[in-house]
Amino acid sequence: MADKPGLLVVGELPEWDLHALAARFTLHLYYAAPNKPALLKQHAGSIRAICTKGEIGADAALMDAAPACEIIACYGVGVDAIDLAAAKARNIPVTNTPDVLTEDVADMAIGLMLAAGRRLLAGDAWVRNGAWAHRGSFPLTTRMWGKRLGIVGLGRIGAAIARRAEPFGMTIHYSGRTPKPGIAYTHHATPAAMAPHVDVMIVSAMGGPTTLGLVDARAIAALRPGAIFVNVSRGSVVDEAALLAALRDGHIGAAGLDVFLNEPRIDEEFLSFPNVVLQPHAASGTVETRQDMGRLMRENLEAKMDGRPLLTPVL
Ligand code: 8YV
Repeated sequence: MADKPGLLVVGELPEWDLHALAARFTLHLYYAAPNKPALLKQHAGSIRAICTKGEIGADAALMDAAPACEIIACYGVGVDAIDLAAAKARNIPVTNTPDVLTEDVADMAIGLMLAAGRRLLAGDAWVRNGAWAHRGSFPLTTRMWGKRLGIVGLGRIGAAIARRAEPFGMTIHYSGRTPKPGIAYTHHATPAAMAPHVDVMIVSAMGGPTTLGLVDARAIAALRPGAIFVNVSRGSVVDEAALLAALRDGHIGAAGLDVFLNEPRIDEEFLSFPNVVLQPHAASGTVETRQDMGRLMRENLEAKMDGRPLLTPVL
């Protein structure tokens, strides 16, 4: 039997994925290699595929180090960390894992909204540290149902968030370049235009150059005082300095954040705010969804090796 094709595994994957991938590929675990350049040099000629993760991506230098690479498969829907122009220039197709994670990310967005608005973590601490018994009732929080929700980016994930918010009686607004045909929610061209009209802003736009700093200082300043802010997309979509300033001066009432600039070494000031709920980029992180993501990534890799059409090509 011919040698299995080499697969460069850029980011850590669950054991079940490594196991399934190993049936078809010779795995080169880049993330675990003590000497990464040496690993690339040794296997340059035999790496026929690269798999990576949404937050890690692949740059042009990595592509150059694997000149026999025929596909880059991303374990994640967001491909903003992959240099798509470089992939295109080298004729390397890129795939992602859309749809299978949509509902989990929407669950996380709603969970963060409720956790931030209703101060779930502070309430939990109030019980655990004895304040309930010694200081009495927990300070009142803010009603979430019936409020006005503004979604930045009404794509697949944004629409799933809106579907969940509807039965909460929330009035739904969204921002995006153009109004979506057939959608009854209120459209605004920019987050800044939408901000004054909402009580909660949830960011679910895709990352990348087109959305860099989309939620800018103007948008954050235009939020009504005490607004709730949630981000489940990418840190790059938000002007993080402006967000930190608005948390520092109390303009934003509470926030729920799954994504940041410079993950996982995030700005430590975030840790200082008791009204911010933090998550380690975990919105798609359920066993079921990660299994689905792994399977879809693998099916794309196998399709390429078999010369079949890719299931979910980005380019
Ligand atoms: C990560 C994500 O890819 O889908 C995306 O774009 O950001 C996430 O699902 C996930 O953390 C796997 O690394």
